[in-house]
Amino acid sequence: LIVTGSLAQRQATIYDEENVPEYQLPPLLKSQNGRNIKKVKQWEKIRRPELLRLFSQEVYGKIPGEIPAPEIIIHETNGSAFYGKAVRKQVELVFSMNDRELPVNILMYLPAATPKAPVFLGYNFLGNHSVADDPNIRLTESWVYDHPSLGIVHNQVTEQSRGVSAENWPIEMILDAGFGLVTVYYGDVDPDRDNFSDGIHPFHYKAGQEKPRPDEWGSMAAWAWGLSRVMDYLEADELVNAQEVILLGHSRLGKAALWAAASDPRFAMCISNNSGCMGAALSRRRFGETVAVVNSNFPHWFCGNFKKYSGYEDELPVDQHMLLALIAPRPLYVASATEDQWADPLGEFLSAKQASEVYQLFGVEGLTTDSFPAPDQPVFGRVSYHIRTGKHDITPFDWEQYLKFAQQQLEPE
Ligand code: GCU
Repeated sequence: LIVTGSLAQRQATIYDEENVPEYQLPPLLKSQNGRNIKKVKQWEKIRRPELLRLFSQEVYGKIPGEIPAPEIIIHETNGSAFYGKAVRKQVELVFSMNDRELPVNILMYLPAATPKAPVFLGYNFLGNHSVADDPNIRLTESWVYDHPSLGIVHNQVTEQSRGVSAENWPIEMILDAGFGLVTVYYGDVDPDRDNFSDGIHPFHYKAGQEKPRPDEWGSMAAWAWGLSRVMDYLEADELVNAQEVILLGHSRLGKAALWAAASDPRFAMCISNNSGCMGAALSRRRFGETVAVVNSNFPHWFCGNFKKYSGYEDELPVDQHMLLALIAPRPLYVASATEDQWADPLGEFLSAKQASEVYQLFGVEGLTTDSFPAPDQPVFGRVSYHIRTGKHDITPFDWEQYLKFAQQQLEPE
């Protein structure tokens, strides 16, 4: 089925199941040349690399080349926070190449009582200093979306914006559960605007080049790349157990987390919170946000090649259940919210269900239910899912489930 009509018609938002067009998902377990994938080995040798290549070429864009390892500046190793519950550590990775420099700041709160604890790694939206009202957190100098009411003006953060996202980061609850938190401002890696002159992208430009080529990385792939570079750092940090890094992201940062977990097997688990279109949700349903809408509102997120699928979802060689399947057999949590129809909760659930086929190939059950659960009734398993009552957000309720999930999945069998 090919959708025709004007872009405006194609953009009429579907919020009603009756209007979801008929669609057929590309099969997970059949290679492009028609070979049935029946064994883990075939998945790993044939289908997984093929899908990674398709996502990279057609959706996220490939990384144009190596970037030298960063200089590592340790600003603080042993800060005390949360009444001594946490050790605060702050590290700056300075990437440099061809006379360019890019500082990326890492903030860590590690449970003082648990050496080498597992950690959650997640990007934040407004700067590291926004996650806690802690005067010791270094302020980012990167471009940030303006939020005058939060003290973010002229695209720069100020003292006033300390702790403004603290509700999204229940750090004490995380620490009390025996986990650490590692967070980075995503705009340090690439500012979230349709401008390819800043962030990591220009590092590989040839003379006169102003943006990546059509098959090269957009912002989403740059953010995923950044998460892998943070992982490189964590592997070398003696305070962290790099075998137990749980990637987590909300919304656009959930999209980035999924691509990072799919492409980098070092991440032990992945949690997608309300990631929606081009995150966990199936594109072919065209429910809520669509490929055409995301491409026109955020032209910098995906690669140039991806633009040709605006309104032509059926032509995509992949769909998002394949992205989730690339994380198998690692634990995966997909979460939606009732008032976040834009992100297509049912499409996120169905995608997780479809991806479970690959978990089964590995001999583990993925999502353990066929029916869409009631609000606030999480379904736990190697692939977990919940739909929370409320709006597009990441809340303490969401975190409670993620902590429980991580504890269950880390328990020795
Ligand atoms: C917009 C966008 C979504 C995205 C969200 C967010 O709503 O359309 O795709 O997930 O922003 O990042 O909050």
